[in-house]
Amino acid sequence: MLAALVSICMWVFFQTLDPRIPKWQLDRSMIGTNPGLGFRPMPTQDNIESTLIWFQASNKTNYLKWVENLKGFLDKYYTPGKLEKGTATTTRCSYDQFPKNGEVCDVDVKVWGSCSREKFFDYHRNSPCIFLKLNKIYGWVPEYYNDPRDLPHDMPLQLKYHIGNITEPNKRNTVWISCEGENPADVEYLGPIAYYPDIQGFPGYYYPYKNGEGYLSPLVAVQFLRPTSGIVINIECKAWARNIKHNRADRIGSVHFELLID
Ligand SMILES: *[C@@H]1O[C@H](CO)[C@@H](O)[C@H](O)[C@H]1NC(C)=O
Ligand SMILES: *[C@@H]1O[C@H](CO)[C@@H](O)[C@H](O)[C@H]1NC(C)=O
Repeated sequence: MLAALVSICMWVFFQTLDPRIPKWQLDRSMIGTNPGLGFRPMPTQDNIESTLIWFQASNKTNYLKWVENLKGFLDKYYTPGKLEKGTATTTRCSYDQFPKNGEVCDVDVKVWGSCSREKFFDYHRNSPCIFLKLNKIYGWVPEYYNDPRDLPHDMPLQLKYHIGNITEPNKRNTVWISCEGENPADVEYLGPIAYYPDIQGFPGYYYPYKNGEGYLSPLVAVQFLRPTSGIVINIECKAWARNIKHNRADRIGSVHFELLID
């Protein structure tokens, strides 16, 4: 009896000793948690409530504010060494090569195309980029929409076609991203959209998040190629997996923001 008690105490003790396993992981209800979607640059620098990305492409001091905001956020992606303390091993992963135990997949900044800091994220060319990120939830495993014949009815057609056109089934193990104008007028003003990496989502090999040293959340860069200037455009972006619910009220699993280019 006493021996059993001691071993339980020891087990609990060692569980709590491992700093990489959060205590609340033991709470099963957290496993079902819906990850939220976030975006950058953050418009909150002047006004806490704002979700408006407003800039003048012809005014360098003006758009640089947004570029600097993005640069600050992406700093750790460009110099991952800052996070690592020597023991971390980041690996180049692929859909055929998920990370082994203890390995962490790197995030390649080269796949962001025009959405690179060298190109000022194309703010000066009227084609601004934003970055999307899923909140980290320890142990969360996406349930993918990986069957083109079984996609939700409210998924945008563009994304359905995109998934249907992917020829390697492995690559459909992705948490998809879609961005759209909220209303028909917004869709028209927003114009064409490019996604980087071109898989248009967060590749499955980044999940589950296990708090590995050096782990960086994967990002999707979204570029609005030819948005109309002089008008506020309402945009909504969504992340797609069976275990991500879209709730309009609290906007879990989706983000809303407005774009205004002067
Ligand atoms: C350019 O932007 C800065 C910062 O937003 C602003 O103070 C300045 O008046 C702008 N210049 C012009 C010519 O609009
Ligand atoms: C994918 O397939 C559809 C037809 O099923 C086509 O219209 C579309 O242009 C293709 N390419 C992309 C990138 O969606």
